Order: sequence, then C-alpha cells, then structure tokens
Amino acid sequence: MLNNKEFGKRVGLLRKNKNYTQEKMSMFLNVTPQAISKWEQGYTLPDTGILPLLAEVLGTSIDYLLTGDSLIEKKSPYDDQYKKEEYYWGTEPSLLAEQIVTLMADRSKRSLLDIGSGEGRDAVYFAKNNFHVDALEISKPGIEKIKKYSEANKCNINILHANMIGYELQKEYDVIYSSGSLQFLPLAQRRTHFDKYKKHTAAGGINAHLVFVDKPFIKVAPDWEENEFFYLSGDLAAFYADWQILYYDEQIIDCNSAGIPHQHAVCCIIAKNSVVS
Ligand SMILES: C[S@@+](CC[C@H](N)C(=O)[O-])C[C@H]1O[C@@H](n2cnc3c(N)ncnc32)[C@H](O)[C@@H]1O
Repeated sequence: MLNNKEFGKRVGLLRKNKNYTQEKMSMFLNVTPQAISKWEQGYTLPDTGILPLLAEVLGTSIDYLLTGDSLIEKKSPYDDQYKKEEYYWGTEPSLLAEQIVTLMADRSKRSLLDIGSGEGRDAVYFAKNNFHVDALEISKPGIEKIKKYSEANKCNINILHANMIGYELQKEYDVIYSSGSLQFLPLAQRRTHFDKYKKHTAAGGINAHLVFVDKPFIKVAPDWEENEFFYLSGDLAAFYADWQILYYDEQIIDCNSAGIPHQHAVCCIIAKNSVVS
C-alpha cells in the first residue's frame, strides 16, 4: 500500500535536488504551493492525473515516486556468469581504479560510489585502500560475489542492490566512479544522470568513468546487449565541460569476455569538481 509519508519524503528530496522551491514547482504543476507542502508532509496525495507531469518535473518515473524503487526487473545480462565460482572480470583492479587511489592518496575524506560494481574487483580494491565504498549493482548474483570477495579481504562495503537508471543518490560522495557500466544508461537520460552525479560530488571531489565508444572500425562485441548504448568520442568531456579535466584518454583495448577475443574502443575521464559556488 502507498505510504503517504514516504511518498512525501521522495517528492521533497527530488524537489530539493532540482533546487526548486515549493512555489516554483507549484507553477510547473498548476497547483498551489500549499498543496505541495501537504504532499511532502504526508497529509495528502496528489490526484493520479498529475503523476506523469510530477514525475517529469522531478526527473524521475511514476514507479519511483510511488514505490521508491524502479519496477524494471533487477536482472543483469551477467547473472549467469556471476553465479559461477570464478570471477568473470577477474579480481585485479582496473587501471582507472588504481589512478584514483593514487590521486586521492593525501585526502582524508574518501567516500566513493562505484556504479555497476559487477563482482566487486574495484570496490574491494577501493575499500582496501581506506575508501568508504557504496557499491551499486543490479545483479543479485553479482551482489553475492561482492559480499564474498569483500569478506575474503576483510573489508567493509555498503551494497546497494539497485537499478542505476533513475536511482536517486542519497548523499554526497568524494568520488563517483564507474568502469564499463554507464552504457546501460539510455541516451535520453544520460544528461540527467551525469548532472546528478556532479551534484552529489563534494567540492574538490572527483568523477571517474570508463565508457565504451562507438568506432566504425571496431566490431561490436559478441556479448553486447540490446540495452547497451555506445558513447561518442567527446561525450564524456561535454558532460564535464564545467569541471577541471585531470585526465582524458581514448584507447583500443583487448577483451576476452564471452570467451571470444575482441576489441573495444574506450574513453576514460577523471574530472574534478573545482566549481566555486
Ligand atoms: C561490464 S560490467 C562492469 C563491472 C565492473 N565495473 C568491473 O569493471 O568489473 C557492467 C556491470 O553493470 C551492471 N549493470 C547493468 N545494468 C545496470 C543497471 N541498470 N543498474 C546497475 N547496474 C547495472 C551489470 O550487472 C554489470 O555488473
């Protein structure tokens, strides 16, 4: 059953994330600011007819507004691989993760969100290097592997079993990180998600991503899925145009996922929130 108070909390949080006052939002929705205040305090619920517009104004989905979760099934194309004993992506950290650990070596605050953590090779590496890690992953078997690997390494990881699409970040991080995962963000929703990641990064904090880039001379990987969408050269730089770019590179790498040797064009960025507010 719909919980008025929880619904109201979600509306209030999303509104503040967008920097809207109740007055401003009331103009978008053609309701009174008092009505919004009542929703946010859990006294009343909006008419169902207004939900599509409310979701659009708040940059979310109706199912998130109503349930606090995405109703898209939490399944990953890697579920079957992650159920196996061996680690599909190995246990060595990625080069980008190593770069971040070096870069943050002299920082005392190190909270980090790893989006699409897989089986946790980077999340565990960050935790072993004194980061407070939130690992967001859609795959249940992936989550089990992260737990197992972090326990074996005697380190603590806060696991978020969630869908990155539409996921509302609950706090500010020193680092928001992803390696090979953000191709699952649909094109039309990318700008909103990157804006969210930037907004939830502490002043002086960092965002670091590795994404797959479309190149006409590289064949699409054999395990590329229908819900994966390439980036174009320059996309990442454009999302972080107002941040300081510490590192930016495009490369062609060899990969053996699905047991078939192939190549990927990848782009890596490390960008720093140097924006003076
Ligand atoms: C190519 S793997 C990369 C794994 C890990 N970052 C690494 O480098 O070892 C991409 C990961 O994103 C996860 N993923 C896919 N769609 C997702 C979604 N909508 N929300 C959260 N995670 C997702 C997959 O389950 C998979 O573990």
